Amino acid sequence: MPEQNDTLLELAQATYRYPDGSRGLAQCSLRIRRGTRNVLIGANGAGKTTLFQHANGLLKPSSGVVHYAGKPVEYSRSGLRHLRSRVGLVFQDPDRQLFSSSVADDVSFGPLNLGLKLDVVERRVAAALALVDLTELADKAVHNLSFGQKKRVCIAGVLAMQPELLILDEPMAGLDPAMQKELEKTLNSLQQSGITLLLATHDIDFAYRWAEHIHLMADGRCMASLAANELASQADMLAAAGLPLPETIVLHRGLVERGILPSQPQPRCITSLLALLAATDSTKENLCKTS
Ligand SMILES: Nc1ncnc2c1ncn2[C@@H]1O[C@H](COP(=O)(O)OP(=O)(O)OP(=O)(O)O)[C@@H](O)[C@H]1O
Ligand SMILES: [Mg+2]
Repeated sequence: MPEQNDTLLELAQATYRYPDGSRGLAQCSLRIRRGTRNVLIGANGAGKTTLFQHANGLLKPSSGVVHYAGKPVEYSRSGLRHLRSRVGLVFQDPDRQLFSSSVADDVSFGPLNLGLKLDVVERRVAAALALVDLTELADKAVHNLSFGQKKRVCIAGVLAMQPELLILDEPMAGLDPAMQKELEKTLNSLQQSGITLLLATHDIDFAYRWAEHIHLMADGRCMASLAANELASQADMLAAAGLPLPETIVLHRGLVERGILPSQPQPRCITSLLALLAATDSTKENLCKTS
C-alpha cells in the first residue's frame, strides 16, 4: 500500500514473539510523521522497547511489515546498515549500548562506522559531548561513570550519527532535573533542525507537555495515536492501559468546575496554567478598577 509522503516510519500489523514465546508485538500498527515530536506511553511490558527494536531492524516482525521512508525495511546487511544510519536508537539500559573503553571512543564508534573522515568525526563527537555536558569526561573510562552519565554518553553517541529519526527509550529516567531540562531543550532544537523524535516515557506529565502525538501502547499493540490535546477526553482509555491523566489536566478540570478558569485554552503544563490564572486575576482587577 503506498504511504503518505509525510510518513517516516510505519508499522503495519506487526507481530513479534520472543524465542521463549512471550508476546512482544501483536498486530501493532503505528505511523510516525516526519518532523514531529512523538511519545510512546504504556505500562511495563506493553511493547514499547520491542517496537523500537523493530524501528531500527534489530528485530524483524514474524508477520506484518515495517516501512521506513515509504519502503519496506530490507533485512539484508546493506539494508540494515542503511536503516541504522538513519534511525538512531538510544537504549533504555545504557549498559546494553556502551562498550568502548573511553567516553570519546564510544561516541566516535558510530560516526567512524559510517566511514566519515577523522576530522568530521572529531567535530561531531565534540559537539555531541557538549550537548550532553560531558566534554570534561571525554577521556574517562565508561565503566566508571554514574548511571546518568552513562545514559548521556549513549545519547551523545546517537546524536553524533546525526540520524533522521531519533528514538530514545526512557531518556529522562535516571537523569537529574537539570539534565532533564537540558535534554528537553536539546530535543526541541533537534526537532527545529528537522529531526523526527520518538521516545518512550512513563512520565505522563512530560508526555502531555512535550509531545505533539501520543501513542498509547498496551498488550503489544498501539491502542490509539492521539494529538496531545485529545488526551483530556481519553481518561478511560488511559485508565484501561494503567495510566493516570496528566496532573495539569486534573488541576485545570478542577478550576473549570469551580468557574475559575474557562475550559479553553487547555494548558499543557503547570507554568501555562499559572499564567492563565494570573491573567484571570489581572482581568478581575481591571474590571474592579473600571467598575
Ligand atoms: N528478550 C526478551 N525475551 C523474552 N521476552 C521479552 C524479551 N524482551 C521483552 N520481552 C517481553 O516482551 C513484552 C514487551 O516487553 P517490552 O520490553 O517491549 O515492554 P516495554 O513497554 O518496553 O516495558 P517497560 O516499560 O518495562 O520498559 C514483555 O512481556 C516482556 O516480558
Ligand atoms: Mg522498555
